[in-house]
Amino acid sequence: MMNETQTIQSVVTTHPSGDARFASLDETIAHYHAEPTALIQILHAAQQLFGYLGADVLRYIAGKLKLPVAQVYGVVTFYHLFTLVPRGKHQIMVCRGTACHVRGAQLLLDRLQQELGIKEGETTKDNLLSLHSARCIGACAMAPAIAIGDDVYGKLSPDKIPKFCQKELKKYV
Ligand code: FES
Repeated sequence: MMNETQTIQSVVTTHPSGDARFASLDETIAHYHAEPTALIQILHAAQQLFGYLGADVLRYIAGKLKLPVAQVYGVVTFYHLFTLVPRGKHQIMVCRGTACHVRGAQLLLDRLQQELGIKEGETTKDNLLSLHSARCIGACAMAPAIAIGDDVYGKLSPDKIPKFCQKELKKYV
């Protein structure tokens, strides 16, 4: 029969930081039996818990799944859905797929960077907006297009961006 100390130890997180989110991550890893084939599902759960995949989290997952850290980094950097740095509350995705590219996606991105004062991959100082690009957001008929959460804005041009930032982006800040 377990004594009180053993009972407490069994629920305390195994991560030395004492961050309880690692205990939740442990549950997810246990759910997948620490199978390396479940790496993407586990990374997804970790990103939901921590907001992003920091180096300590990636090392922890690699250790638990007995995978090389470089392999875990490789997966994280391959998929757009994962981020190694904290993101803002809302993600602005500028589509750089073929249809949008030929209709000036780069110019949209340049103008957004200028208006927001951040570069692609960065987050505004108030942590509300992050700027990214994507391969195709599924709105090719509206190219060039950008997405913010579930909202898609199409047929944009660089000269529409200042007004777009003043009007539409206000909904998110
Ligand atoms: S290429 Fe931009 S929405 Fe498809």
